[in-house]
Amino acid sequence: MGVFQKLKVIFFGPSPLIKLMLKEHGAINLLLNDLKKDLRSEIASENFRKLQEKVSQHMHGEEKAIFIMYKKNKISKVVTTLLKQHTALLDLADSVESRIKSKKNFSKELKEFEQAHAAHIELEERDFYYKMDSVLDEYEKEKIVKAYNTYILGSIHLA
Ligand SMILES: [Fe+2]
Ligand SMILES: [Fe+2]
Repeated sequence: MGVFQKLKVIFFGPSPLIKLMLKEHGAINLLLNDLKKDLRSEIASENFRKLQEKVSQHMHGEEKAIFIMYKKNKISKVVTTLLKQHTALLDLADSVESRIKSKKNFSKELKEFEQAHAAHIELEERDFYYKMDSVLDEYEKEKIVKAYNTYILGSIHLA
């Protein structure tokens, strides 16, 4: 985080977009804890479905922001890393899912997902969100928050 961004956060607090992203990380971690609490297959498969849905919604929201940043050509090295991590996390989630589906023990796969996910959100919260916040203008940030909320509301209808 640059000095200007740091001062901005100290004076104005995190933007509504950053607040939403942090809230979503909290929600993902809660779903992850729910899943860890009960590894029996029927309960785990329902809890895993909720986790996977939330993770993909969240990545979708972030990638929308990244896409706008690309269009502005204001893209940093961290974004490439984050996108690679998204792909890796989806792959790890797939391996947890296939273990659950075949009623096999999935604690090793879940641990891998959990560790990779913790490293990912650490990087986003320490670095990326502040870059995102400084590159996007207020209108774009608002557009992403709205799209994000619409997407979540849309998925409630589907559930
Ligand atoms: Fe992410
Ligand atoms: Fe995130």
